[in-house]
Amino acid sequence: MSDGFVLPRAGTEEDPVRLAVLISGGGSGLAALLRYQQTPRCHRTVLVLADKTDAGGLQHGRGAGIKSIGVPLPMHVEKAERRVTHEQLVDAELEAADVELVVLSGYMRILSPWFVRRWKGRLLNIHPSLLPDFPGAHAHRDALAAGATVTGCTVHLVDEGVDSGPILAQMEVEVRPEDDEGALQERVKVVEHVVYPDVLDRICSGLISL
Ligand code: GRF
Repeated sequence: MSDGFVLPRAGTEEDPVRLAVLISGGGSGLAALLRYQQTPRCHRTVLVLADKTDAGGLQHGRGAGIKSIGVPLPMHVEKAERRVTHEQLVDAELEAADVELVVLSGYMRILSPWFVRRWKGRLLNIHPSLLPDFPGAHAHRDALAAGATVTGCTVHLVDEGVDSGPILAQMEVEVRPEDDEGALQERVKVVEHVVYPDVLDRICSGLISL
């Protein structure tokens, strides 16, 4: 195992790996994962956590009977301390729910090295481009601006960088001449919703090693 990555244990249908899914928005990826988990798997979502109390995706978790909470930035805390205090609150929720693997699914906050090191190897992200191309918050816009003819999505283990860390899976999507940001995003999401559950199956059954 390299660079301090500690992967999750191998789960089973009887004793699935306990997932937290972290979101910021509508949570279509979360909804797809919850549909996938309607069949017993080696992983199960036990907590949905958003960085906003009104994140639309929280409804998907609640609808599935899963604890689903908003943990907003603590605005009463001084700015310099706000990020770390927020991450401590998030971390406390993860610990309280006995979470074993954290799944970032459209979570729009950059995590600090402190948080990453606590969960390293048990912290996954999906990014809507073929990394290392087009990291950052505007992957589709950047891909279109660069004239890319192929883009896609990447699932990777999170390290201390931004959209870096070992790549576990990628899937390509053609960029069409008529694509705008919204159209491209929707087509990439279709493949994201297949790739992420597949990677979770593999990592939660011990099939991934670094
Ligand atoms: C996905 O495209 C994901 O790759 C990106 O944010 C989007 C989240 O969409 N990081 P949703 O909230 O799951 O619909």
